[in-house]
Amino acid sequence: MLIKTAEFVCSNTRVDLLPAPTLPEYAFIGRSNVGKSSLINAMTRKKGLAKTSQKPGKTQLINHFVINSNWYLVDLPGYGFAQTSKKNRADWERFIRKYLRQRENLQCVFVLIDSRHEPQKIDLDFCCWLGEEGIPFMLVFTKADKQSGVKSDQNIAHFRRALLKWFEEIPPHFLTSAETKIGTEDILKTIDEININ
Ligand code: GTP
Ligand code: MG
Repeated sequence: MLIKTAEFVCSNTRVDLLPAPTLPEYAFIGRSNVGKSSLINAMTRKKGLAKTSQKPGKTQLINHFVINSNWYLVDLPGYGFAQTSKKNRADWERFIRKYLRQRENLQCVFVLIDSRHEPQKIDLDFCCWLGEEGIPFMLVFTKADKQSGVKSDQNIAHFRRALLKWFEEIPPHFLTSAETKIGTEDILKTIDEININ
């Protein structure tokens, strides 16, 4: 897919104040610092579109971007951020889960997972919750540039195997890097296909 335009629309914590659900929507979610905002910038080839930081917990709101005036890309705050208060974590739970459950134009959630690590319980639990809620999702393994392809492939295989405990069919996955931009075209192609159908 050719990205002609990628524009910031709004930031929100309230589901009732989100843009009208008139365009297909795709959301990026995952642990704090996994690279959600960076991958959005890599995909759209627009540095600084989504705010990134070395410190976890940068994205705090539901951020809408409109792509080619045709679909929404959403940057969400990360989960599993250790240095936050119980109240913040509870707030996250409330508004993000509400958004994911209620957003009627949400076509697919991309769950970002750090390709350097063995399967983490928090990511597996989150995928299970999406499954239980019947929310369609795909897996996006990030930071592929940080280790060998063999290591990434091993971690991906472990994660997929771990999911087999709960799922009969494992959703598709992508191996990506915001640095080298590998995998970004594949995600865009998948979004294009969903938009067309
Ligand atoms: P929160 O908003 O805090 O949840 O984080 P996030 O998931 O949006 O992560 P963000 O995109 O802000 O990136 C976190 C850090 O990881 C930054 O220092 C990025 O430069 C770095 N980073 C993200 N993606 C990649 C990648 O593919 N390769 C490398 N080498 N670094 C990356
Ligand atoms: Mg972010």
